[in-house]
Amino acid sequence: MCGVNEGRLNNKYMTKKFIIVAAARPNFMKISPLIAEIKRVNKISRHLLKKSSRRLTKNRPITQLTKYPITYKLVHTGQHYDYQMSGSFFKELNIPKPDYNLGVKAGLHGEQTGKTMIEFEKVCLKEKPDLVIVVGDVNATLACALTAAKLHIKVAHIEAGLRSKDMSMPEEINRILTDHVSDYLFITEYEANKNLIKEGINKKKIFFVGDIMVDSLKNQKSKIKNKKHKLLKQFDLKPKQYAFLTMHRPSNVDDKKILTSLLETFNIISQKLPIIFPIHPRTKNRIKEFGLNNKLKNKNIVLTSPLSYLETVCLMINACLLITDSGGIQQETTSLSVPCLTIRENTERPITITQGTNVLCGHNRRKILKETDKILSGKQKKSKIPKYWDGKSAKRIIKALDNKILT
Ligand code: UD1
Repeated sequence: MCGVNEGRLNNKYMTKKFIIVAAARPNFMKISPLIAEIKRVNKISRHLLKKSSRRLTKNRPITQLTKYPITYKLVHTGQHYDYQMSGSFFKELNIPKPDYNLGVKAGLHGEQTGKTMIEFEKVCLKEKPDLVIVVGDVNATLACALTAAKLHIKVAHIEAGLRSKDMSMPEEINRILTDHVSDYLFITEYEANKNLIKEGINKKKIFFVGDIMVDSLKNQKSKIKNKKHKLLKQFDLKPKQYAFLTMHRPSNVDDKKILTSLLETFNIISQKLPIIFPIHPRTKNRIKEFGLNNKLKNKNIVLTSPLSYLETVCLMINACLLITDSGGIQQETTSLSVPCLTIRENTERPITITQGTNVLCGHNRRKILKETDKILSGKQKKSKIPKYWDGKSAKRIIKALDNKILT
């Protein structure tokens, strides 16, 4: 069991109890730095309580918590459940075993969201937390935020305020509704602030903390580096001479015509350089269902099952370009300064376009091929690292919570 015992430093002092929610693959790299930061500040608090040192209190470090150590319970809703989509991330990112696994798994949206709410409510009633922390935009993010809000438990949303302005995306609905029931909204970029203010959210609830995924990239840097040689050899790839492809959005894979056209486009690109393609379960199912397996019978398209976090980042760093419809990868490529072509019509992360390495291509074959050629001829766009994407977001989040609810 993690959490509660670790944080209960001294019964004389009050503790604040958090529930941290994780559900699906893109959540795990966001909760790992947060848990590491809670452990760090609790260690300092423990030290302070032991020593009662005036001198230390005076030179209080950025996220120093004084009298109120944080205890936490980790809840895995089970939206992603197998080793490749979940277990390997816990192992590599040092995430402790969840205190609760709600076992919700896949299903229709209403079913998945409803089941998560039913199970999460039981946990909240039992644990009576002071705060529920949710991350990102998956179905469980909304389900758990809504459950907590209805029980009058404070909610913190990490990665708030992102908007694609595309209500046909399930994640857009999750983002908007989660933000509107949250009490503390942690944003990755300034644009998010504008979105929230426009929607009538009180600016006092909004905290600009940067991108917590960058914390994970920085924390795991040395482990990622160690993987390079073995991984490139395993897939027979040469540094900066291959493309990395990920694709799983319903808008790309649930429509046979669009999926066929995209697979054909990738076949054209693969004539110029090899493509490594770790297939998401949804995409794999659709390719089979639509009888499109023949479109992947090409030795220059290296198919593999979903990769672990460290493997993915290592292959991203060494790729000469990313082709993706993922949200997180748009951020990670900007942070790693690797060119990224996004096969979507819009993005909720515009800073990756205005400042980062990202180019929106939609399903437009001509555009995808043109942008690929630009990158291959060394003419990719210039980019810079956005403000606060510096590996210190978890510290800022805990500091803000310290000021707001831990005093
Ligand atoms: C979800 C998120 C999306 C995120 C993506 C990352 C929502 C609405 N969408 O989409 O924002 O980018 O995760 O992966 O929450 N499956 C397995 N093994 C698993 C998990 C899933 O085989 O461990 C299969 C399921 O059976 C299902 C498919 O993958 O057929 C889709 O899973 P689902 O939870 O519906 O969401 P994603 O499409 O992964």
